[in-house]
Amino acid sequence: MIVDRQGRRFRNLRISLTAACNYACTYCVPDGKRLVAAQDELSAEALVRGVAYLIEAAGIEQLRITGGEPLVSPKLEALLHGVSTLGLRDISLTTNGQLLTKKLPVLLNAGIRRLNVSLDTLDATAFRRIARGGDLATVLDGLEQARAAGIKIKLNMVPLRGQNIDQVLPLLDYCLERGFELRFIELMRMGHLARDGNSFQQQFISMPALLELIGERYEYQQADAPLDATALRYEIPGHGHFGVIANESVPFCRTCSRLRLSSTGWLHGCLSSSNRHYVGDLLEKPRHQALPALQGLLMKALGDKQEVAFSGGVTVMKIIGG
Ligand code: 5AD
Repeated sequence: MIVDRQGRRFRNLRISLTAACNYACTYCVPDGKRLVAAQDELSAEALVRGVAYLIEAAGIEQLRITGGEPLVSPKLEALLHGVSTLGLRDISLTTNGQLLTKKLPVLLNAGIRRLNVSLDTLDATAFRRIARGGDLATVLDGLEQARAAGIKIKLNMVPLRGQNIDQVLPLLDYCLERGFELRFIELMRMGHLARDGNSFQQQFISMPALLELIGERYEYQQADAPLDATALRYEIPGHGHFGVIANESVPFCRTCSRLRLSSTGWLHGCLSSSNRHYVGDLLEKPRHQALPALQGLLMKALGDKQEVAFSGGVTVMKIIGG
């Protein structure tokens, strides 16, 4: 097991199934062009092998499948099928929900019981302005279907000044009424936002500002969260829970246990580092050859983690999926 001086190790793996996405959210894709899959994306088989090797080499226990948008990928079913046999404690998926109704049977068949769905607003006009793709009613339908099928749902919202701040309470109510857990994600300095500080500052809403807004409607208190969780959890007694992922206000690098594998075979030890380590070739090799080389790269990836706080990164979410 590889552990760093701060006692951190990799426990949670996120794999980006594809860089393709059917949205072009303003805070993720500056030019508004929807992404297509990269030429050199790994096959489902190679990704499954990657997960298996990383379970052994790094002690991975939990897996999250991201993108791009994972549900647009033709590799989805094969990947889910493959990773479901690896003995992981938990497998979940982050999606924008646009294809949720359509892909629900595939998810259920593969044993997926938890989903994170990204939704920044319940207003159809604002939705089109922020996501620049997809359709709000389709997402809401997908959420209802997933709920009816017994899937546990967390909703991700990135509050943005001037764009969806009026949606904080409507989205919170929407979630509390349905037993979904809403998670507010503080805007992160990723990709173009790392380069353009003005654009970041104009849009950024801090956790204290957010909590003040929520406090006008609800009494809330801090609730338990796992030690290496990125979200601070709160309980609204009698109503439910919500969370805040406060990258800027309450950095969580000291307990970060995340490792990311991109759809083109790069390992990222930290979202805030531009370092990445190519493992695509190793995933074609047999276990006894791949594992020692992988161990060396994992040491480097762990060394890429920030000491204390996220300070921005050139990597874009559309590639690595959060
Ligand atoms: N800051 C915060 N959250 C982001 N996401 C994408 N880009 C950013 C950013 N710059 C969110 C998406 C999705 C999750 C995977 O990451 O909205 O919910």
